[in-house]
Amino acid sequence: MHLIFLLLAAFFQDQDKPPERAAPYYPTPQVVVDRMLKLGELKKGETLYDLGSGDGRIVVTGAQKFGAKSIGVELDKGLVIQSRQRIGKLELGNLASIIEGDIFEQNYADADLITVYLLPVTNIRLSPVLEKKMKRGARVVCHDFEFTEWNPEKTEVIEDSEGRGHTLFFYRR
Ligand SMILES: C[S@@+](CC[C@H](N)C(=O)[O-])C[C@H]1O[C@@H](n2cnc3c(N)ncnc32)[C@H](O)[C@@H]1O
Repeated sequence: MHLIFLLLAAFFQDQDKPPERAAPYYPTPQVVVDRMLKLGELKKGETLYDLGSGDGRIVVTGAQKFGAKSIGVELDKGLVIQSRQRIGKLELGNLASIIEGDIFEQNYADADLITVYLLPVTNIRLSPVLEKKMKRGARVVCHDFEFTEWNPEKTEVIEDSEGRGHTLFFYRR
């Protein structure tokens, strides 16, 4: 009886656990955003997800410049509001949207391209999750921190306007 109670308590405690903030907010410079989506071979009519979408700049670019259905997933309510306002102002609501939620809890079966700018420790947990959730042939572009378990098809270093180097990793599953 005691053991059953402990197991149930552990189960319900886990259910209540708030989603973990897997990286701080640190935006990708626009020149790097453009390059990430080019490297990721994003095409009109495809579906893009940005995991931890911050102010929505990758989602906006995917819709505005590439004509892709672009979805951001973001935990921070303030950033969700900010990015939704930006999408509204630019009248991109037909293509771009933001899910307020945890990147580990979403379904990515329809993703053609996923962009990731998180932390190395997060990427270690994320790559097996994406492995299960993505369709075959889907692409991933990581900014600065790679998926150590995967082999990149291409790697690029790009400089931003302040001369800082950014490494991009392109994967095809
Ligand atoms: C380094 S920023 C990248 C922002 C944007 N992708 C870009 O490249 O400009 C990481 C973002 O991930 C968000 N984040 C962290 N953990 C998350 C989680 N578990 N689910 C959803 N978003 C998360 C943070 O709030 C932050 O906005």
